[in-house]
Amino acid sequence: MLKGTFPVEKFKAIQTPFYYYDIELLKETLSIVTTEAGKYGYHVHYAVKANANPRILSIISEFGLGADCVSGGEIKAALEAGFPANKIVYAGVGKADWEINLGLDNDIFCFNVESAAELQIINELAIAKNKIASIALRINPEVDAHTHAKITTGMKENKFGINLSQLGHVLSELGSLKNIKLIGIHCHIGSQITDISAFRGLVIRVNEIQEEFEARGIQIPNLNFGGGLGIDYYHPNHLPIPAFDNYFAVFKKLLQLRPGQQVHFEPGRSVVANCGTLISKVLYVKEGETKKFAILDAGFTELIRPAMYEAYHRIENISSDEEVEIYDVVGPICESSDVFGKDIELNKAHRGDLIALRSAGAYGEVMASQYNCRQLPKAYYSDTL
Ligand code: LLP
Repeated sequence: MLKGTFPVEKFKAIQTPFYYYDIELLKETLSIVTTEAGKYGYHVHYAVKANANPRILSIISEFGLGADCVSGGEIKAALEAGFPANKIVYAGVGKADWEINLGLDNDIFCFNVESAAELQIINELAIAKNKIASIALRINPEVDAHTHAKITTGMKENKFGINLSQLGHVLSELGSLKNIKLIGIHCHIGSQITDISAFRGLVIRVNEIQEEFEARGIQIPNLNFGGGLGIDYYHPNHLPIPAFDNYFAVFKKLLQLRPGQQVHFEPGRSVVANCGTLISKVLYVKEGETKKFAILDAGFTELIRPAMYEAYHRIENISSDEEVEIYDVVGPICESSDVFGKDIELNKAHRGDLIALRSAGAYGEVMASQYNCRQLPKAYYSDTL
């Protein structure tokens, strides 16, 4: 069910385009995640890349989640928002030296290491600081997530993680790296995963990988399954989307846990997507020869997902209840790909109508750009508007 209504009268006084966050919905989602994960003692590290807005981050940290970071900038943002360093995990295929040093200086919980070359550098930097770096090996589990090719990460040909065939070599090198402590296995197979069987495949693969480690006499205290749980974008033909309870239940049921082992997750989208909406205004209605266009004052500079991944975002005219007409909803950017949706049913649009682009809380504001010398969008919150 589509959640949340909009304070349209208040919106009229605000310069569009802007992001609007439904803080009650965010808190409701956070209490579901923490309750469901808490049933099994699972640890949840919110993936900061989905939305790094400081207000959103501080609310998430207040619920006791950890943070999954992909850069030094994200580590700084997480620390500033109150996430404790000992709940920060840091994955990233290209960690720069200053970023590794930042993690070491703050004693973060774990570096999720993506290659043998990176392992050497973390060891050298840790030696220089006389520290021991806790690491997990990010393993590419070769499990198909059945999602958009641009957001699949767990296949052999992706740049992420260590391939299964190279694991033996990496493990043999580990023995000589004295300032590295192996504390876990990390996997992440992709994003917007709506087929729960992909996670079943992942758990079964991790069970096998654990056995390989044990055959070499290595015990692994932490298992991290990354993020990826999909959300409902309210597409008219959508299928049911797995919820947090079914998601965690897959791990509870299939994972062969060893005594004392800790289980970790890194959800991003499923925590923040539905609480965020991009609010825009109709600038012009243009009658083309074959199409009618609703031209908005927001473009892919504010929400790039439709242009980049052909992603669907539900579009609503929240100023009109006149009869529905069919529009191509487009932005002002000087690129043909600046289209939010083609042949979209909208209540009849007029200049000045407010348009809501739903489920934009994840990979929305955080992926905004200043292309065409545009200003970055501001954000407003339901509890302070
Ligand atoms: N952990 C790792 C290592 C990741 O690479 C990601 C996302 C996550 C966790 C969080 O995944 P989530 O729960 O949000 O699916 N910009 C794209 C999505 C890119 C996802 C990148 N990695 C989009 O707009 O669909």
